Amino acid sequence: MNSEILHRNIGLDLVRATEAAAIQGGRWMGLGDFTPASEAAGIAMARVLNSLGINGRIVIGEEDRVYVVEALHTGRSVGSGRGVAVDVVADPIDGRRMLAGGRGGAISVVAVASAGAMWSPASAIYMDKLVVNREVANALVPECLDAPAAWTLGLVARTKHKAVRDLVVFVLDRPRHADLIDEIRDAGARVMLSDDGDIAGAILAASLGGRADLLMGIGGAPEGVIAACAVKALGGAMLARLAPQSAVERAAVRAAGLDESRILSADEIVAGDQIFFVATGMTDGVLLDGVRYQGDRAETHSLILRCQTRTRRSIRAEHLIEEHPNTV
Ligand code: FBP
Repeated sequence: MNSEILHRNIGLDLVRATEAAAIQGGRWMGLGDFTPASEAAGIAMARVLNSLGINGRIVIGEEDRVYVVEALHTGRSVGSGRGVAVDVVADPIDGRRMLAGGRGGAISVVAVASAGAMWSPASAIYMDKLVVNREVANALVPECLDAPAAWTLGLVARTKHKAVRDLVVFVLDRPRHADLIDEIRDAGARVMLSDDGDIAGAILAASLGGRADLLMGIGGAPEGVIAACAVKALGGAMLARLAPQSAVERAAVRAAGLDESRILSADEIVAGDQIFFVATGMTDGVLLDGVRYQGDRAETHSLILRCQTRTRRSIRAEHLIEEHPNTV
């Protein structure tokens, strides 16, 4: 393994990519259309990533989405090419609709791991996820993913020495979760429903003393890989399994040779401990504050996680906004 990555926190470089994406994309907050925001954020992110001393490869590019800039498509190289070889997964905006609607919680995200460390869900779109923090990590068993919610909530409550009614469960507000939400409520726990953004939800659940005790439910598969990077860096635990939501998606999963019954741990999604996760807030959320603009300045709030050292940095920065940043 290249030792360069062992001794440096490249998260401190990577955060410039999410800061740039948040500043450029954040301009579209509340304007109703996420397409220009995605383009601006993607271009700004790619430009910074390409300036870094890494030999990166985009592992999951979500290029089936028309607005994803080409520089971030699967298999594309990022970085100067001269540095350490790494896998990269980039999401210039997680919570596009929240950004377009002016709602809180949109973030810009990048995760990086040693080359070959990241599992790829190929063209799979959806994944069932369960996330807890390190107090519960050793108690989590694969059965939790299929057990009635009350059983898993009981296990988490006992392990945390809490009452079930004191637990908070982050769930995406989707019709597919109607039964899950009923089960959680019937068990007596509280539900934190979110319009979007289950990467942030995973971080809340994986954090010690976080605002949520668990994340449960089905969200994006690429977001699941990014979340696994953050969960590992926080010492938490995650269970995940592909969860195709249509016949077309199921066929694509099978055609890619992926096993939709396999339950994956965070270690199986991203191997090793050379893992970095960075996120910058675009709109004010529970996890991060959004971008503040004033004249030619912008203020950002970011999170940098490094798995090997379990370092968690929260960084506020003030930037001079560049005039013509949207070229790669
Ligand atoms: P985008 O901003 O890329 O649309 O993702 C937002 C998000 O809420 C993710 O955080 C989540 O994993 C996924 O969408 C859930 O998918 P869907 O909106 O189709 O339920």
